[in-house]
Amino acid sequence: KKVVLAYSGGLDTSIILKWLQTEYGCEVVTFTADLGQGEELEPAREKALMLGIAPENIHIIDVREEFVRDFVFPMFRANALYEGLYLLGTSIARPLISQHLVRIAQESGADAVAHGATGKGNDQVRFELSAYALDPSIKVIAPWREWDLTSRTKLIEFAEKNQIPIAKDKRGEAPFSVDANLLHTSSEGKALEDPAVAAPDYVYQRTVNPEDAPDQPEFIEVTFEKGDAVAINGEAMSPATILTKLNELGGAHGIGRLDFVENRFVGMKSRGIYETPGGTILLEAHRGIEQITLDSGAGHLKDSIMPRYAELIYNGFWFSPEREMLQALIDKSQEHVTGTVRLKLYKGMATCVGRWSDHSLYSEAHVTFEDDAGAYDQKDAAGFIRLNALRLKLIANRNARVAK
Ligand code: ARG
Ligand code: SIN
Repeated sequence: KKVVLAYSGGLDTSIILKWLQTEYGCEVVTFTADLGQGEELEPAREKALMLGIAPENIHIIDVREEFVRDFVFPMFRANALYEGLYLLGTSIARPLISQHLVRIAQESGADAVAHGATGKGNDQVRFELSAYALDPSIKVIAPWREWDLTSRTKLIEFAEKNQIPIAKDKRGEAPFSVDANLLHTSSEGKALEDPAVAAPDYVYQRTVNPEDAPDQPEFIEVTFEKGDAVAINGEAMSPATILTKLNELGGAHGIGRLDFVENRFVGMKSRGIYETPGGTILLEAHRGIEQITLDSGAGHLKDSIMPRYAELIYNGFWFSPEREMLQALIDKSQEHVTGTVRLKLYKGMATCVGRWSDHSLYSEAHVTFEDDAGAYDQKDAAGFIRLNALRLKLIANRNARVAK
């Protein structure tokens, strides 16, 4: 029996690794992804080797470009927000991780994959729906739902018994749970569990407090091609490089903080602190370029399906026919979403202050308050309003009649 484990190198997944070896008697293959979480990954290799994993069974892969190009950017074409606010930074990384787990399982002849998500959250659902969609015969092991290591004390005991090194700061209860990648950092649980109480400042890891951000605004230009960002200040960059750069800019100006109570797919509410600096700039920029390049019918239609699309990603249905159908609609809408926006970054805010494009539908000739030289006949509006008002008048007349 062989299992591919999503392995971060941290204490929890190291315990899972050992538990799979001892409890299941499995040969363990590890997959560690560089998603831009800002951690060295070589220590994960050292640790896996130390826990008895054969070198050929350790997979450490830089997936940053793939993450942004194939997951983050397609999602941003939709301006996706879950429940109006959450930019889905954790949700969108899970299908990518599952894709690699399943691929490695198939290539190495493993019959199962394993992950370190708890039985209370969304992540288990996302990992597993993705894995089953990609390989219906795969088995999934979710130790958190199975084992009896139900307290920190028991986990530490298990680690000590099995010679798993424990960082000093990991002995006690962790102050909260963190998930990070190129798109965001999320913090949940423990110190953050009471939604009535403000999050302490030390929770924030990649943005300065907007109050401490520079007093001078910074202006940047972002260029889009068919809905995807391709350059900053005229310099062409790869998808992951663009997001990295926007994170630096946004972090320095305190942009993209969110304190949010959301509805988990499994039914409960949870409170999280999110930091999405680059993503917040990117959303404002993308909306800015859409404003001049999208037709109103196309724009309103894609906006109307956005909440459904966001919910599918949140709930773990990235690999589903309905997400792919909505993606096709969204991608079609982006054919002319090409051009440049100018943004002002200032004390927690990214504001679009200019946009221009060869594909623009904006017509100054039509909208001008000055003489439009016959571009638009204002008399046309009278009949337009009369016909639109017709049924409203009939309703008002009816209501006056039956009220008597
Ligand atoms: N609630 C967020 C989501 O479901 C983040 C979950 C993972 N975050 C964490 N700190 N463990 O997408
Ligand atoms: C977890 O439970 O593993 C993290 C939170 C979530 O998945 O929603």
